[in-house]
Amino acid sequence: MALEYSAVQWNRQKRIYDFVLAGGVGAFLVLFGVLSKVLFPFITDEIMLMRAFAAAAFVLLHVILCIGPLCRVNRKFLPLLYNRRHAGVTMCLLALIHSALVIVTYHAGGDTNPIVSIFKGSPLTGSIARVPFQPFGFFALVILLLMAATSHDFWLANLSAPVWKSLHMLVYVAYGLLVLHVTFGVLQAEVSPVYAVAVAVGLATVLGLHIAAACKEAPADRELAGSSRREEAHTKSRNSQGLVTSAATEEDFIDACAVADIPEKRARIICLSGERVAIFKHDGKVSAVSNVCQHQNGPLGEGKILDGCITCPWHGYQYVPETGASPPPFVEKVPTFNVRVKNGRVLVDPKPNPPGTHAEPALIASAESKALQTV
Ligand code: HEM
Ligand code: FES
Repeated sequence: MALEYSAVQWNRQKRIYDFVLAGGVGAFLVLFGVLSKVLFPFITDEIMLMRAFAAAAFVLLHVILCIGPLCRVNRKFLPLLYNRRHAGVTMCLLALIHSALVIVTYHAGGDTNPIVSIFKGSPLTGSIARVPFQPFGFFALVILLLMAATSHDFWLANLSAPVWKSLHMLVYVAYGLLVLHVTFGVLQAEVSPVYAVAVAVGLATVLGLHIAAACKEAPADRELAGSSRREEAHTKSRNSQGLVTSAATEEDFIDACAVADIPEKRARIICLSGERVAIFKHDGKVSAVSNVCQHQNGPLGEGKILDGCITCPWHGYQYVPETGASPPPFVEKVPTFNVRVKNGRVLVDPKPNPPGTHAEPALIASAESKALQTV
């Protein structure tokens, strides 16, 4: 949780994550170096290092891209998501070392400016394709550096979560550029099909996992689209009857779901006015907040209520269900929604309250007993 930009506190899980990350990268580099020297005894140290750091960065990028869809397919992978930024910054560092080694080895010896030299032509000639592959690597590196530089919560807070998220979606552009960089580089330099097959397997894994995650979420998305359409129809019919007023009336509320559909201390996510809303049931009450966590847009509705607070499943930011505000001294706030419970159904006002606004939770028991009295 952020207080003056000191984000999620350092903890044991984070230390284990970093230890495994550093150990894994170190082991990969050593193994790659040893194998290169055994299989290609005439390889120079510069080229061996250049390739080892490049391969480590490229493999780590695949791991990073697979973590998101893996978590969608199976929640057991969620702990991998928590500190994915550490893996991203490590990957950028490895790519930077590779690029620096390439520039020093191939581009710094002549009269031409090293950066200009990257665009002038590839040192790997006698090629199949002759495509200048190095500019792809250069542009990918620029994106990776931009992402690593803005990865701290300081930038998240200052750029706003949606802008930050859009910026970080550029990782897919960087990945596309790198697939081209490696494919054309390998096509020009290697005769063995092993490299091309490895790149194809990596690409298929990333695409396959994204498609699997999309398929898994498709039924939920259809349901959300359905509730959005129901809301639209409701608004249109009220508009045509001239019933819409600025203050929320009983009719403004949308029938969202049955109280019984929400597990205790958990939420059901619905779509209202194009925005995902998380409706939580806790201690005989129902509260609704925006589904979007202020930290990195994590899905609050997939979290649960711990110690009386909605707890984001990604990095554990917490929000009070009634106010959508993080408990002091933290400062994050999400919009709340007014809710009612009637005849076992949860009704939600689709108009969000400003972030941090208190919205009276709907009491399940008393509402139910009132409903019973009127029968
Ligand atoms: C200024 C930017 C870059 C330049 C000039 C550049 C240049 C090169 C060159 C010349 C090679 C062939 C090396 C050789 O085998 O002799 C290469 C290979 C490669 N590059 Fe880059 N690169 C850049 C950025 C990147 C980035 C950001 C990545 C990110 C992962 C990357 C990943 C790779 C990979 C995986 C290979 C194949 C390595 C291997 O043969 O095992 N490159 N690059
Ligand atoms: S705590 Fe990081 S996205 Fe919610």
